[in-house]
Amino acid sequence: MTVARPVVAVTRRMPERVLAALEASCEVVGGRDDTPATQDELAEMLVRADGILCTVTDSLPAALFGRVPPRARILANFGVGVNHIDLAAVRASGIRVSNTPDQLSEATADLTLGLMLMTLRRLGEGERRLRAGKWEGWGPTDFLGHDLYGRRLGLIGFGRIGQAVARRAALGFGMTVKFHTRTRWATDDVPPFVEQAESLEALLADSEIVSLHLPATPETRNLFDEPRLRLIPRGGWLINTARGTIVDEAALVRVLADGHLAGAGLDVFEREPVVTPELLAFPGVALLPHMGSATVAAREAMGMRAVANLLAFFAGQPLLDPVA
Ligand code: 8YV
Repeated sequence: MTVARPVVAVTRRMPERVLAALEASCEVVGGRDDTPATQDELAEMLVRADGILCTVTDSLPAALFGRVPPRARILANFGVGVNHIDLAAVRASGIRVSNTPDQLSEATADLTLGLMLMTLRRLGEGERRLRAGKWEGWGPTDFLGHDLYGRRLGLIGFGRIGQAVARRAALGFGMTVKFHTRTRWATDDVPPFVEQAESLEALLADSEIVSLHLPATPETRNLFDEPRLRLIPRGGWLINTARGTIVDEAALVRVLADGHLAGAGLDVFEREPVVTPELLAFPGVALLPHMGSATVAAREAMGMRAVANLLAFFAGQPLLDPVA
């Protein structure tokens, strides 16, 4: 489909360069306000715009597409995860969806290692103490944490982000890295610095740190329930920079409370922006507000790529990053 000067609704504030690129050939609505859109506002965008540049905070369930015949023909998602969009409903409405899978892997991998450091080396705890004016000077047994070096890391999911984490962990931090994916990798394709585990269960039982790098789907919802969390050996850590719904947060609280897990590093939550209050009470838990891709360069690249997908679509060309 070719549309001359399409109307594009932008649901959240975007970097100026991204808006300028879009405004060069589209009528842009929004993009400078930063209040998450309500369901009514999203419904309005669907009937008034030819395309929507959306983000993880825009919940697009089936009910929304059924309300009125949408005018929008494309949803260009700013980000890789599209779990907030009902893809079956989108397909049934003939709407296309794109994402930005190649622009945030390194930034998210950096943050994953950062969360490991925060959790194992107690960085957040140390900073909180200092800022509270409660640091009384250095002590030989103060703030003792645990080394990342030499530790066994299990990656659940081995896509772009998982691989970027593996490189950092194995080559930079000297960790022993194993991974598990739903579909087995051909042995020849496995990078030399990682090992493929036999099964999810085997990997959990063999890891000191487990880091999640898989998408949120109906199949992965609460995949990390209490029995699976307890497969991680006592004293281990869970790191999640993927999606909160993959972990049963109430179960995580239980395994932390009885000391089975020593800690967790979480950048994502089951019901964002709500954080299960009990998590706040564990000193060994590091909590971040969904910052994985939050670098100037990554966010600009994600926006530019979303725009490139929109422009390709309106020019009648194939999507660069088709999801649906
Ligand atoms: C984004 C993310 O910040 O890309 C993803 O899936 O979780 C983050 O990098 C967010 O999704 C923006 O929509």
